[in-house]
Amino acid sequence: MVLKLTNYFSNDPDFMSLLTILEFPDPRLRKRASPVSVVDDTLRNTINDMFETMYNAPGIGLAATQVDIHKRLLVLDVSENKDAPMVFINPEIEVLDSEPMGYEEGCLSVPGYFDMVNRPRKILVQALDKNGTEFELEAEGLLAVCIQHEVDHLDGKLFVDYLSILKRQRIKNKLLKDQKQRVNV
Ligand code: NI
Repeated sequence: MVLKLTNYFSNDPDFMSLLTILEFPDPRLRKRASPVSVVDDTLRNTINDMFETMYNAPGIGLAATQVDIHKRLLVLDVSENKDAPMVFINPEIEVLDSEPMGYEEGCLSVPGYFDMVNRPRKILVQALDKNGTEFELEAEGLLAVCIQHEVDHLDGKLFVDYLSILKRQRIKNKLLKDQKQRVNV
């Protein structure tokens, strides 16, 4: 997920292993991710690369699906100073308060677009951390929005799926045009 108005710092890309972020309507974004079976150093390397990619983009959340890794894994940092990284492995969401909360969402896989999406305002998340230890977390506000947005990615779903068909089609056509132009340059 990406915020519309935030002050970000950007790291020097030369020293980082940045992953390529898939963009809508890439069909790989529609794959359903499989549960992670082993939390090991290989996975932790992937997690580090995902954080670097997310901070560099810049974004506040990134699901493995978006970097063409189809495992149930996501990273996020909704803090003002970008100093509160969070990892969720095999996340499961339970809705604690289904009262809808509207938030203007954006996504690194749908660059340049923001629109209002309604989601349950309070959730409970169960997941594994980067050491493979189970944890539980109650979330509301931006954190709840971001977790739900990223878990959607693991199920092959994008925030544009909540918009009208007409809007989604317009975004798709515009992004396809941008992608084509980039290839031709
Ligand atoms: Ni996203």
